[in-house]
Amino acid sequence: MQLHETPFGLYQVTSFRQSFQPMPSILSISGVSKTYATGFKALKEVNLDIQRGEIFALLGPNGAGKTTLISIICGIVNRSSGTVTVDGHDINKDYRAARSLIGLVPQELTIDAFESVWRTVNYSRGLFGKPANPAFVEKVLRDLSLWDKKDAKAITLSGGMKRRLMIAKALSHEPRVLFLDEPTAGVDVELRQDMWAMVRRLREDGVTIILTTHYIEEAEEMADRVGVINRGEIILVEGKAELMRKLGRKQIRIELREPLSSVPDGLSRYALELSGDGTELTYTYDNQSDRPGVASLIRDLEASGIQFRDLDTKNSSLEEIFVNLLRQEP
Ligand SMILES: Nc1ncnc2c1ncn2[C@@H]1O[C@H](COP(=O)(O)OP(=O)(O)O)[C@@H](O)[C@H]1O
Ligand SMILES: [Mg+2]
Repeated sequence: MQLHETPFGLYQVTSFRQSFQPMPSILSISGVSKTYATGFKALKEVNLDIQRGEIFALLGPNGAGKTTLISIICGIVNRSSGTVTVDGHDINKDYRAARSLIGLVPQELTIDAFESVWRTVNYSRGLFGKPANPAFVEKVLRDLSLWDKKDAKAITLSGGMKRRLMIAKALSHEPRVLFLDEPTAGVDVELRQDMWAMVRRLREDGVTIILTTHYIEEAEEMADRVGVINRGEIILVEGKAELMRKLGRKQIRIELREPLSSVPDGLSRYALELSGDGTELTYTYDNQSDRPGVASLIRDLEASGIQFRDLDTKNSSLEEIFVNLLRQEP
């Protein structure tokens, strides 16, 4: 820290922070809107920066605009306004450079049914102008447990294998940013776990991952940061832990020794809920509210002569947070 004298004789504190340049974001979306030919406005002024090496979940209900946004970044859909850069390359002015940094696993399967796994992945790599690299393609197929299927035609693969082949295709040209559009919709639990393990490995290799989902548990399990999108607008972007801390409601469940017929008046300020059989009290508070803390609740319970057997706390899930957020929307 440094102290500077100002013309008014006051001291101003400046820090050395400015000498540390933060790593520029790998993907920068600025003022992006999309109005489809039908006149429907699918995106409204979206601003979003994705950090290098993070797993970012774009979370929103069906129709929110997730696929539209990804399609714009990947050059499949034209935006109506705004700019997008990938590692500093503008997706319009510098399309080839920008696109070659991106791998896309689209929502719908797009593979040639009669082509072999091996040729599908190598062909895709060639489309990006990358020289053949059999050792790399072999590694990708091994990582995705597809190596023993390398000569099989796509049509003979199971649904899960077809998904993995889509991922292999998206990774074929060694992208630095991978988009997974609803990667686990209709995928069984086992494959889902494999997929997440693979995503984490990719992140360790320095690949930035952006996934879209309407499953909150998925965002909760996988993401470092979460952006919530609704009706074409990003309504919140937050580190996952921060999101939970800020918006999470906490509940304390108090198991009573003796059932109560009603909550004593002395405890009214806690707005406790009494279970139907009178044996449980629930106290709900959010981290930001000024409701009294747990310590005072316990003191007041004792003062009212209420004894309890057990007490446990639970954080609200992202699901509850999400429902609350959307409820606040006008
Ligand atoms: N080609 C199109 N023409 C007109 N409307 C479209 C088109 N594609 C998508 N939409 C509409 O835009 C909205 C956002 O769609 P989409 O981006 O696919 O949402 P999500 O992926 O979040 O489910 C939806 O209401 C959808 O019906
Ligand atoms: Mg979609």
